[in-house]
Amino acid sequence: MCSTFFFGTLVISAAVTSGFDLNNFDQLNAAKKSPDKKIVIKNLLVPAGKTLDLTGLQSNTVIEFTGRVTFGYQEWEGTLIELKGKNITVLGKPGHLLDGEGQRWWDGKGGNGGKKKPKFIRVSLVDSTVTGLHIKNSPRHCFMIKSSENLRVQNTTIDIKDGAKHGGHNTDGFGVSSSRNVTISNSEVYNQDDCFATTSGSDTIFENAKCVGGHGISIGSMGSGNVVERVVIRNCRVLANTNGIRIKTRKEETGAVRNVTFENIEIKDISKYGIIIQGNYYNSGPRGDPTPFPIENLVIKNVRGHVARSGTNIFVWVAPGSAINWFWNTKITGGLKEQQCKGVPNDQTSRCGKK
Ligand SMILES: *[C@@H]1O[C@H](CO)[C@@H](O)[C@H](O)[C@H]1NC(C)=O
Ligand SMILES: *[C@@H]1O[C@H](CO)[C@@H](O)[C@H](O)[C@H]1NC(C)=O
Ligand SMILES: *[C@@H]1O[C@H](CO)[C@@H](O)[C@H](O)[C@H]1NC(C)=O
Ligand SMILES: *[C@@H]1O[C@H](CO)[C@@H](O)[C@H](O)[C@H]1NC(C)=O
Repeated sequence: MCSTFFFGTLVISAAVTSGFDLNNFDQLNAAKKSPDKKIVIKNLLVPAGKTLDLTGLQSNTVIEFTGRVTFGYQEWEGTLIELKGKNITVLGKPGHLLDGEGQRWWDGKGGNGGKKKPKFIRVSLVDSTVTGLHIKNSPRHCFMIKSSENLRVQNTTIDIKDGAKHGGHNTDGFGVSSSRNVTISNSEVYNQDDCFATTSGSDTIFENAKCVGGHGISIGSMGSGNVVERVVIRNCRVLANTNGIRIKTRKEETGAVRNVTFENIEIKDISKYGIIIQGNYYNSGPRGDPTPFPIENLVIKNVRGHVARSGTNIFVWVAPGSAINWFWNTKITGGLKEQQCKGVPNDQTSRCGKK
């Protein structure tokens, strides 16, 4: 497994703690079985149409990324990297890069047509941490967390700045679904869709994030009977996005949004809505009156900042009775486009839909 083998037993034990060097895709299965449970992924080229399949990991495995990981080009709808396991430690070492080179697929259409584009990373991790990843130019959705529990993702950068000028679309940053107790902290996201979105699951925290260029921080879009419970989004900055924060539920679908808190969120240079909550969401734009969808125990506290003159500071359009027990404390200014809010609880004092 390692050329140092020839230097004798002493060196072998040193090689054991330094891990299995994975720089050749053909060795992937051997790496996953390696007895020292440490995989060092360096300067790896993943062949076109293939997944860097880190599922079926042994419990307690450490995965380190060093150098640059790249991917061959093919039109397909798979996932470039998958991770699954228990008590997994993923570490991005200084100078490493997961480079999706998404520009090869970008055509301004994202997931809605044009070239078939792979998603970047999907993880199903339990009792695990992911630290310090540096991810660049996702072809479309970037970091999807699914069926995870007790997971911490920290100090991760998603840099899809290039997508702004070169046709990046649906380059969602972090997505969390069907998970419990996931915390994402200290991340930076530069992209062209939601910075963070959760569509199902409970006890999700998104904190200390900087979001630039995308569509804001979202709950939803909700539907298909999915429930989001106990989400805290705090201490974030949302800059030059189309929206600051939003909750979107789909018309004529079921589910619930319970106990969501947005706290200490600074927004700046927002082009459309500082805060938007809508019950008639469709990808292609709102359609007709919303249908009931409970949004219960919503706290929007110290959400503040500035919307462009052409935008609306706060907009709510939900079906009567959907909004249950909302607390608001916001200071959002700048947007001059007035719109009529509907479904806002009577006791709410925000200047909904106003300048
Ligand atoms: C989790 O994995 C680490 C190695 O990364 C190990 O030191 C630790 O003992 C494991 N924890 C449990 C509970 O197995
Ligand atoms: C939530 O996950 C963290 C690890 O990120 C863990 O330390 C904590 O015990 C978990 N909490 C619960 C209630 O499971
Ligand atoms: C993560 O980032 C925070 C804030 O920048 C910093 O304080 C912390 O030391 C970093 N943690 C790691 C493990 O790099
Ligand atoms: C939501 O919070 C309220 C108190 O604010 C609590 O009574 C209720 O049990 C919580 N619901 C969920 C689903 O966590």
